[in-house]
Amino acid sequence: MTRIISVVNQKGGVGKTTTAVNMATALAAIGKQVLVIDLDPQGNASTGLGIDQAKRVHTSYDVLIGNSTLEQVAVKTAIPRLSVAPATIDLSGAEIELVTMERREFQLKQALAPMSAHWDYAIIDCPPSLGLLTLNALTASDAVLIPLQCEFYALEGLAHLLKTIKLVNANLNPRLSIHGVVLTMYDRRNKLTEQIEEDVRGFLGDDVYRTVIPRNVRMSEAPSHGKPALVYDLKCPGSQAYLQLAKELIQREKQFTTKNAAA
Ligand SMILES: Nc1ncnc2c1ncn2[C@@H]1O[C@H](COP(=O)(O)OP(=O)(O)OP(=O)(O)O)[C@@H](O)[C@H]1O
Ligand SMILES: [Mg+2]
Repeated sequence: MTRIISVVNQKGGVGKTTTAVNMATALAAIGKQVLVIDLDPQGNASTGLGIDQAKRVHTSYDVLIGNSTLEQVAVKTAIPRLSVAPATIDLSGAEIELVTMERREFQLKQALAPMSAHWDYAIIDCPPSLGLLTLNALTASDAVLIPLQCEFYALEGLAHLLKTIKLVNANLNPRLSIHGVVLTMYDRRNKLTEQIEEDVRGFLGDDVYRTVIPRNVRMSEAPSHGKPALVYDLKCPGSQAYLQLAKELIQREKQFTTKNAAA
């Protein structure tokens, strides 16, 4: 069975795409078959994985509206075992088209149902909103991964996101679990960072990953080379942190699957 994990935060620029791309790369590096589903019309995950616009002939939009299967849309990246269902700006139209569809929150789940067992993980990179695209991702997922930037408004946004996840749990997808919150662009020199970390850990306890992702300029350079930071500069502190995060994720995966098997 493919495990489907959505990377979600309605706040823009908090490190969703960076997290999706580098976690996917780390999982592929340890031998997993991984598919990144780019569900953001900005197409940043596709660009960050080196897929030019010209290669985005069939996209996640086609999957969502039922025109293509994932297998038809998935493009191999330069990284062994890592493919991507790319996105273009067309996807912004899907949000509007979905509105009139029956069971509109279930379209992606339905499209992913026949997904080939070939993939161990599908990582969905969500847009910065809690609109229908993100709701489709949450409805189709086993777990969410929430990147959180340590800044003043972060907690307000997080409370709203957690409420939405609860609603999805109650109405659309009871199996959805919070895989964890990961603190991104972490800057130890900033006093506010420490304060917010304390608040988030106090509020969510073990749901917050122990690993934090430091602010690191190499991370922001990588996408312009069409490479995940893990490939662009494996040794930089940001890449090392994502490797560590992948280890933690795998450990949690084991706990989740044991818990589910026992339930
Ligand atoms: N650890 C980091 N250190 C430095 N820069 C980073 C780090 N993580 C991400 N960035 C940079 O911050 C910007 C925002 O990151 P990213 O695109 O991953 O966020 P996002 O949440 O996906 O944004 P959007 O909401 O627009 O989809 C990018 O330019 C990215 O390269
Ligand atoms: Mg993004």
